[in-house]
Amino acid sequence: MSIDGQTQLVGVIGWPVAHSLSPAMHNAAFTYAGLNWRYVPLPVRSGDLATAIKGLPALGFRGVNITVPHKVDVIPLLDSLTEAVSIVGAVNTIRIDRNTGHLEGLNTDMTGFLADIAANNIRVNKVSRVLILGAGGASRAVAAGLVRSGAHVIICNRTLSKAQAIVKFMQSSWAHPNIEAASLDDLPHVTRGVTLIVNTTPVGMWPDVDSTPWPEGVPFPSGAVLYETVYRPPKTRLMRDAEKAGLRAVGGIGMLVYQGAAAFEVWTGRKAPVDVMKMICEQELKENEN
Ligand code: ATR
Repeated sequence: MSIDGQTQLVGVIGWPVAHSLSPAMHNAAFTYAGLNWRYVPLPVRSGDLATAIKGLPALGFRGVNITVPHKVDVIPLLDSLTEAVSIVGAVNTIRIDRNTGHLEGLNTDMTGFLADIAANNIRVNKVSRVLILGAGGASRAVAAGLVRSGAHVIICNRTLSKAQAIVKFMQSSWAHPNIEAASLDDLPHVTRGVTLIVNTTPVGMWPDVDSTPWPEGVPFPSGAVLYETVYRPPKTRLMRDAEKAGLRAVGGIGMLVYQGAAAFEVWTGRKAPVDVMKMICEQELKENEN
């Protein structure tokens, strides 16, 4: 993989970014597609975000991904935002116009989630009842996509006020969003009729692999599908418990891949090699298994 004067640069801005799978995933995609593009990790502290973003066009960057903790703080630094950003309230991708330096903020987390559930044949529509665990950034992206599909959404979070804040935000974006907030203590009372559970909390993520966000003693809704956004490890305790209870469990690697594929397409204008990107992520996770 050579780098020369023609190499086009993209990367990921976050803090920390050392463990990100995105560089391996995108660089494999560029190589496969025969593009002289490279993706680099760019660790940037919060206090340096504005300087870093403003410097990207001057450095000739074609785009970046934005990750924790900058997804919301980056918004006022951009020249324009897509509709997905306004309904999620966060940016995870920036496209940079090579001629004008115009910075456009996008959100491919929402579309990545929707693409992956479709790829897994999980249908959501007006008769679906979806329970989202957690009320952080990932929850917002998932909730926005589900509200758009017309499903009834329940955001269940340890801190009720954070779930309520997402509901309020959705109410400011949609006329009549079918969404409500609940606390984790209320979980036993809201699982009835649930067709899909989406875990957006980091509970169960390596190294805390024996933890689960699902409270002990609460039965899983029968016939539901569990969608896990944690992908390290590929099969979490929550997935194992759900499968033992007869549910179908889907791991979170696909959401990462599809949000990356959408960013690849926005930057390069080429179709993303989704299968290659997925294979590389799975390979990287296997190599780093502990
Ligand atoms: P992200 O932006 O990546 O989605 P985040 O903003 O850190 O992550 O959000 C994490 C979510 O997981 C929060 O909703 C958090 O609950 P609180 O709002 O009560 O903090 C939830 N979470 C984290 N650890 C948890 C735990 N041990 N049990 C239940 N929920 C937890």
